[in-house]
Amino acid sequence: MTTETPVQGDIKDAALADKGKVRIEWANTTMPVLAAIRERFDQEHPLRGLRIGACLHVTTETANLMRTLKAGGASVALCASNPLSTQDDVAAALNIHYGIPTYAIKGEDRDTYYSHIDAVLDTHPNITMDDGNDLVSRIHQNRRELVDDIFGGTEETTTGVIRLQSMQAEGALAYPIIAVNEADTKHMFDNRYGTGQSTVDGLIRATNVLLAGKRAVVAGYGWCGRGLASRLSGLGANVIITEVNPTRALEAVMDGFLVMPMHEAAKIADIIITVTGDINVVDKDDFAVMKEGVILANSGHFNDEINIPALEAMAERCTDLREFVQEYVVDGKRIILLAQGRLLNLAAAEGHPAAVMDMSFANQSLSAEYLTQHRGELNPGVYPVPPEIDSEIARLKLASMGVEIDVLTEEQERYLNSWESGT
Ligand code: ADE
Repeated sequence: MTTETPVQGDIKDAALADKGKVRIEWANTTMPVLAAIRERFDQEHPLRGLRIGACLHVTTETANLMRTLKAGGASVALCASNPLSTQDDVAAALNIHYGIPTYAIKGEDRDTYYSHIDAVLDTHPNITMDDGNDLVSRIHQNRRELVDDIFGGTEETTTGVIRLQSMQAEGALAYPIIAVNEADTKHMFDNRYGTGQSTVDGLIRATNVLLAGKRAVVAGYGWCGRGLASRLSGLGANVIITEVNPTRALEAVMDGFLVMPMHEAAKIADIIITVTGDINVVDKDDFAVMKEGVILANSGHFNDEINIPALEAMAERCTDLREFVQEYVVDGKRIILLAQGRLLNLAAAEGHPAAVMDMSFANQSLSAEYLTQHRGELNPGVYPVPPEIDSEIARLKLASMGVEIDVLTEEQERYLNSWESGT
């Protein structure tokens, strides 16, 4: 049933809107923290009159974030932060049922991807909400005139924060941006448990591979790598970690994983998944030594962690085997690439579960409110989520789970604040 007036946007198929709405409501049932914020926003309208331009993965969870910002009084426009991560039914529902212009089509080419970013920017946002920094980068490189209207932004992911820090270091960043990714209630849960589970979900949905007994290589032992390694291990895979950071490599060793250079791991791997945020982590020389039938995938933000142009150049042929599964033949040996090296968890599965995105998007909503409350007070730069917001989200999440914790007694508080007592 379609009752609302559709807004302008660019979506695959309006007929998918009803299905999308049901799925958005389903996700909402496990996003209690965001729902509570939405209820308050609906009463207080802290974002009244603002225009928010968002470039995020267009999923059921993102739809609930968009609803929250709209309840806060903002006009919101949304485009995809990756060409393969859009859920077309959600994009349709946002346009048709929720009055949120959404420009996103799963599988869009690069030109369409950027035309959708431009469509969002044409709304002249006051706040940008980005996942991977493509929106912010577009503003700074091609749409400079928009900066005057913008008083702040937020960034969702590790890769985006790294790019922002480079901009800040070069003095190129024109307005303040809150690094949502750095909140404890974001990366400790979304990056670890979200990426861990959703990547395995994408791997299994795409291939139906049995993980028990397989040698699975995880490239990168940041929060995403830690989560992914532990989930693969839990399903019976023998996990090998590759790293460039000695402390993280040491942590992986003491967590019980084998650690070795990629070139060695590539020789024995059944599955290789990259989550490093860096380029050409799996490279030409590695393809040459891989085993027959090895599966390659990426869950890092960009599709350049596996050197796909080199793989294409080396391959005698490439065949589509099933959705998100391509077989390259190199020296008579099959190398299987999933989701064209794009984010496996969002391309072949549904991204992180709603229960974890609840906290990430609570951070987004409250950071937008914070920026509004402090409009004009913050210099251009990258800012943390205020710690009181971070811990309030943890408190609300625990409460929603029915988990109670201890409270410091006055004596304990005094003790923690003193230095005199000792052995
Ligand atoms: N990033 C990872 N999973 C996501 C999801 N479900 N929604 C939006 N962004 C995501």
